[in-house]
Amino acid sequence: MQRLRLLITRRLPEPVHERLRHTYDVTSNSDDVPIDPTALADALHEFDALMPTITDRIDAELLRAAPFRTRVIANFGAGIEHVDLEAARRAGIVVTNTPGVLTDATAEVALLLMLMAARRAGEGERLLRAGEWTGWTPTQLLGQDLRGKTLGLVGFGRIARETARRARALLDVRVAYHSRSRAPAEEEAALGATYHDSLAALLGASDIVSLHCPGGAATRHLLNRQALERMKTTAILINTARGSVVDESALADALSRRVIAAAGLDVYEQEPRVHPALLKLENVVLLPHLGSATLQTRTAMGMQAADNLDAFFSGAIPPNRVA
Ligand code: 8YV
Repeated sequence: MQRLRLLITRRLPEPVHERLRHTYDVTSNSDDVPIDPTALADALHEFDALMPTITDRIDAELLRAAPFRTRVIANFGAGIEHVDLEAARRAGIVVTNTPGVLTDATAEVALLLMLMAARRAGEGERLLRAGEWTGWTPTQLLGQDLRGKTLGLVGFGRIARETARRARALLDVRVAYHSRSRAPAEEEAALGATYHDSLAALLGASDIVSLHCPGGAATRHLLNRQALERMKTTAILINTARGSVVDESALADALSRRVIAAAGLDVYEQEPRVHPALLKLENVVLLPHLGSATLQTRTAMGMQAADNLDAFFSGAIPPNRVA
């Protein structure tokens, strides 16, 4: 019997390719550069299934050319705003994602950014590598203690809660949050979390603001100039969610004018481009979208995407169906 044709758009950890080759007729992107939109449009007519990543834009325009051969898009990743779910539904394509398996890895990066930004680690390393460290002084690169500070979470999903749990245990912070709907009392109690019914109130009360909401139109530039101005002048902004949530130009301006003290970013509005004004600033830590970048996590993401494909083609509802 002819095997189902699967396109994996980027190079994934080898065990994932190996598993998928057992079941599917797999085409991989050996160059590992993002596939251009024309090739992606053709792929919808040539493959039974796609396994894309954040670097593939599957928008309404692309999905207009239905009917397609593709019946399922098993996204490698939790965030799914690069796929137009409504347009996929209209085209009769099922879409799945990989939530849960990257919670720990992403929470680790949120903590890494908090510590790096608070203790000026990037600045320190740049100074040393530039050969400009002339020796210890009592007032050199003084940062901020985090103990007793308030960590304000924007969003209260899995990654937000895991970040809070770890930050409480390791950094001894207090937890506050704002999200569209308030969490059950026992979930708040487990983290000692205080709910704020507006973003503005949370921003004003927090020493560290950590973003954990999805990307997409609803959250675009949630952290704009006005929002940044509501934050404390000593505050640190952390973004491991999506670049689109922050107005990068407004952030660069706020950091340079010390409207807020520092920021730690893992995601950007137009990856891999980083706003040039941010690149010039010392008080921002910039990581290249490393949230889920561990071998274990990326392998688990691939295996979860494969589970979704297998479930779909066996006639079951895939466990992580989003459309
Ligand atoms: C992924 C992520 O590496 O899963 C997500 O939402 O942001 C990242 O950790 C990337 O999106 C994979 O497509």
